Amino acid sequence: MKAKKTLVPDYIKNLKTYQAGKPIEELAREKKLEHISKLASNENPLGPSPFAIKEMTSKLWDLHRYPDMHAYKLKMKLCELYEVKPDNIILGNGSEGIMAYIARAFLQPGDEVLTSENTFIGFYILARSVGAKLVTAPLTKDYRYDIEAITERITEKTKVIYIANPNNPTGTYITKGEFDYMMDHVPEHCIVILDEAYFEFAIRAAANYPDSMDYRYDNVITLRTFSKAYGLAGIRCGYGFAHKDFISNLKKVKLPFEPNALAQVGALGAVVDQPHLKRTLKENERLYKTTMTFLKEKNFKAIDSVTNFITYKTGSDEASEWMFQHLLDRGVIIRHLKSNEMPEYVRVSIGTREEMDHYFEAMEEILPQYDKLFGRVK
Ligand SMILES: Cc1ncc(COP(=O)(O)O)c(C=O)c1O
Repeated sequence: MKAKKTLVPDYIKNLKTYQAGKPIEELAREKKLEHISKLASNENPLGPSPFAIKEMTSKLWDLHRYPDMHAYKLKMKLCELYEVKPDNIILGNGSEGIMAYIARAFLQPGDEVLTSENTFIGFYILARSVGAKLVTAPLTKDYRYDIEAITERITEKTKVIYIANPNNPTGTYITKGEFDYMMDHVPEHCIVILDEAYFEFAIRAAANYPDSMDYRYDNVITLRTFSKAYGLAGIRCGYGFAHKDFISNLKKVKLPFEPNALAQVGALGAVVDQPHLKRTLKENERLYKTTMTFLKEKNFKAIDSVTNFITYKTGSDEASEWMFQHLLDRGVIIRHLKSNEMPEYVRVSIGTREEMDHYFEAMEEILPQYDKLFGRVK
């Protein structure tokens, strides 16, 4: 049914829908391909933990029942892991689900939401979907959040500051010093969302990465997810830590049975299976280095990342689209960063050894023609 114009607020009319990485089945259908490597959504290429799969499988016979509304077991496990109290935790349909609760609970049309350019698009969409005014600061020259420029843009109307640390799509991070600087400048009326969807991968950042669990601010919420390093993107389970008053307001607007029953047992299984997480991180480290070396050898300007993806420069929208399409023809799905307003860049997620070899081979095949058409841009 076509919505009557008058029923749709302008901020919804002007909203663009989220563009996800191309699904494997869609590409298989379109190009009649069998061998496909999806390196477009920063998923865990090793798959879910086998223990989590076992736990979810055993839950299938109970799916006629609503889930535990309080996700007791999962919450208790997270309390144990992170040494926090149950009142300080919220669970949702992915960390994005929790961002939606924040928008619903705290934002009204006209409020200002402050963040960086070239960060997670999902957040831009959520802020706009409630009529908030999005205020952004450009990245620094080395593709990092410009914390000084962000704090300079705080006004009386700023309600939420969103920081993805590490950032998607650049893979860069803010340091402890930058975090402290920001918190010194954030007034009490502002909520800070620290989106740490990729924090498990940030081992390369080592000592100067600010693990937000080491801090206690009443206006800061940390968001984490089982979709990335834990390999459970297909069931969307995210969690947030904050002051109990903050959490109690989010609970008022949360849909009662999120996350669903499979997500609850799957996430619990994934937390228990820490060896699977360790394997994931080790494999990622190894293949990140191989991929970075490959891109540098091919003379691409690639952004140093502390995550499971690398963004590199093609130099133009046309070159990015050409590379994206020609890799698609060979069954490799990467991401053209047009919707992140970085059209002259593409992003590749770190896959398995086999998937990366597929990507390297496809790149070797297309680069001679690519070079004739576009060359290299520094
Ligand atoms: C920075 C960032 N935050 C959040 C998400 C969404 O994660 P979830 O599946 O937990 O909603 C993503 C997914 O790509 C992301 O890149």
